[in-house]
Amino acid sequence: MGFNIAIDGPAGAGKSTIAKRVAKELSFIYVDTGAMYRAVALYLIKNGISPEDEAGLLRACGQIHISIEYENGEQQVILNGENVTGQLRNEEVGNMASAAAAKPCVRETLLTLQRDLAVKADVLMDGRDIGTNILPDAQLKIYLTASVETRAGRRFRELQEKGEACTLEAIAKDIEERDRKDMSRETAPLKMAEDAVLVDSSEMDIEEVAARIISLYRERR
Ligand code: DC
Repeated sequence: MGFNIAIDGPAGAGKSTIAKRVAKELSFIYVDTGAMYRAVALYLIKNGISPEDEAGLLRACGQIHISIEYENGEQQVILNGENVTGQLRNEEVGNMASAAAAKPCVRETLLTLQRDLAVKADVLMDGRDIGTNILPDAQLKIYLTASVETRAGRRFRELQEKGEACTLEAIAKDIEERDRKDMSRETAPLKMAEDAVLVDSSEMDIEEVAARIISLYRERR
């Protein structure tokens, strides 16, 4: 059995940046579960299926096959044989992922894949329900959060760098709406596990957050 680190938290808290950094430093395999929900979302968008269309969604869940590969240490998401990694990180896919992630059949489709990935090796997995639901026995659980203003500011800069048109207000609204959906859904909502360590990155930079998680890991291993 490997050592499992679970990092959960709301959109834009810096989970994937931090998780990648920590995983590299500790030679852990990094599993980005948000990307799997995004791959489901991409399938729904491409096939014109609404997450509210119960029958359509159920059929889609039966047709979606997702697997994970690693290329130069970077996670690649394979959706029905196609590497879709480059198509996942945009607002349309993110919003659809949040809507689809509220549906039990979508969560069930991904649960086994996520659990299987964690038994094989030392794994750092990030998402919304890793510490509470996917890996309840993870040896280290982090709940990584930051204020809405901080998170919106980070995402704004990220999108600007990519040359995508956006406003700070619209992003903040989007983030609040995503938090509300992720925290209030019935199935596996985003919440802090009882045994998780809270890390608020509002006033911390990436290096500080990574150092904090690495030192928690060293205490526990
Ligand atoms: O972390 P992210 O922005 O890539 O995640 C996209 C959406 O997927 C997010 O709004 C909620 C959902 N998600 C989830 O419900 N459970 C996870 N373990 C990971 C992501």
